[in-house]
Amino acid sequence: MQVAVVLLLLCIIAVAPSAFAPFAAALPATVASNLPEQVHVVFGGTRLLRPTSYVIQFVTLGNNAAASFVQFGLAPDPAALTTTVLGEDMPVLFTDADGASSEAAPCAQHERFLHSVVLNDLPQGTTVYYRAACHADGPWSDVFALKTVNHTAPRLVASVFGDMGSQMDVTSIPMLIQDTKAGAHDLVIHYGDIAYGPPNDCGASSDGFLNDIQPIAASVPYIFGVGNHESESEAANHTARYKYHNFLMRYGGQHALAAASGSSSIRYFSFNVQRVHFVLLDTDAWVLPEVWSLVKPQIQFLEKDLASVDRSETPWIVVMGHRAMYCTKAADAECNDEAEAIRYGFGNPQHGIERLLLQYGVDLYLSGHTHHYMRTHPVAQGKLIQRSYVNFRGKGVVHVQSGVGGVASPDPFTVPPREYDAFWDASYARGWARLTFWNDTHLEVEQYNAVDHSLVDSFTIVQNSYL
Ligand SMILES: *[C@@H]1O[C@H](CO)[C@@H](O)[C@H](O)[C@H]1NC(C)=O
Ligand SMILES: *[C@@H]1O[C@H](CO)[C@@H](O)[C@H](O)[C@H]1NC(C)=O
Ligand SMILES: *[C@@H]1O[C@H](CO)[C@@H](O)[C@H](O)[C@H]1NC(C)=O
Repeated sequence: MQVAVVLLLLCIIAVAPSAFAPFAAALPATVASNLPEQVHVVFGGTRLLRPTSYVIQFVTLGNNAAASFVQFGLAPDPAALTTTVLGEDMPVLFTDADGASSEAAPCAQHERFLHSVVLNDLPQGTTVYYRAACHADGPWSDVFALKTVNHTAPRLVASVFGDMGSQMDVTSIPMLIQDTKAGAHDLVIHYGDIAYGPPNDCGASSDGFLNDIQPIAASVPYIFGVGNHESESEAANHTARYKYHNFLMRYGGQHALAAASGSSSIRYFSFNVQRVHFVLLDTDAWVLPEVWSLVKPQIQFLEKDLASVDRSETPWIVVMGHRAMYCTKAADAECNDEAEAIRYGFGNPQHGIERLLLQYGVDLYLSGHTHHYMRTHPVAQGKLIQRSYVNFRGKGVVHVQSGVGGVASPDPFTVPPREYDAFWDASYARGWARLTFWNDTHLEVEQYNAVDHSLVDSFTIVQNSYL
């Protein structure tokens, strides 16, 4: 009898957070569970040494997550997962309250804990098996296989794209899952517009998206950049607009990586993988007045960052931003005034980024935002520099817009191509780009079709000298 009362009390305490929600009926309740979901991995923070630490991030929906655990080993059998790591950071309670549609419909029913656990010094070029839990005695997640990067291997393959939700007519997710299983890429970079949820769903669409990409993101590092759909500009709660709250919380596991590159924000940072220096920027800053204040710190960051690159260590530099600096669409702002604002700064040329990309010999700038695939020849200051992709470092930059990862409707090309435009995919195939860094001189860029994995475009950049 007494035992039953105690158990009953424990149950009441356990469900207390949702019981306090005054308008609980307004939203469908999430089923509370302590089973980890939304498992995704990013590199940990190491700047000069290339990262051999990995951050395992996951979510639990149960309401008493007190800690974060990962067990790992070199074979998939749970008995072989002999190392247990307790996450240093406490799980973070995240309700995405900013996503509530009104004061009368809070998000308390959508409580979730965000976990991250750092695994240091993993062996390179190896499959590491792991599982996660929020209690030492489980329940444990499935066992995942993480393929770690071999930084001394000659070749690196990155799948990169912008603009992908999982609830779209066509999305690249099934093909990227296939590629992951086949070991076809070493890392994935998703430069903005993530999940495409309605703004007022209390984060439910991000939960769904992170579960849908789990077979990719739990197996290779999956790095997120920020795009305009992360601004929550359409959020009904006006005080929350332009706070990028969901992005900053969900992908907070990238903080160590950002900090190691000298950035205090996961909105812009850089990292070295093998022989490549990757930079991610928040290009909303050049376009949305609400975040103009991020232009100056990013210019300062970028200049310092690019100046510090040792080309003999990382001959390749790839910069990514959600929005394009060069693109061709209808005569609208995003491929005209806005692209030029990013390129040249507005009124203050010091605030433009093209001069830095040229000064420091950046090879490639990738973007999305406009929903199609296109590429330029090496271009600078709005002018074609040369038609060939051989030896243009410091003279021009190649721009690729691959913004069709999984979008509802593509953006048509409706104006004539400019002299520097090299290829347009007028079939508007949804898909993603694959960068194959063959060695220090050859970078192959391919665009794949999300429906049948066919090749949409392919070209090779050859750079025979460091800057
Ligand atoms: C609206 O946003 C503000 C600021 O982020 C927050 O304090 C408040 O709780 C939000 N209101 C709702 C109903 O989510
Ligand atoms: C990593 O790459 C180097 C260079 O190709 C190779 O010698 C080494 O065996 C690779 N390591 C693993 C674990 O595959
Ligand atoms: C670099 O890779 C390309 C493409 O595979 C190849 O043609 C070239 O010979 C390689 N260069 C060196 C120095 O290995």
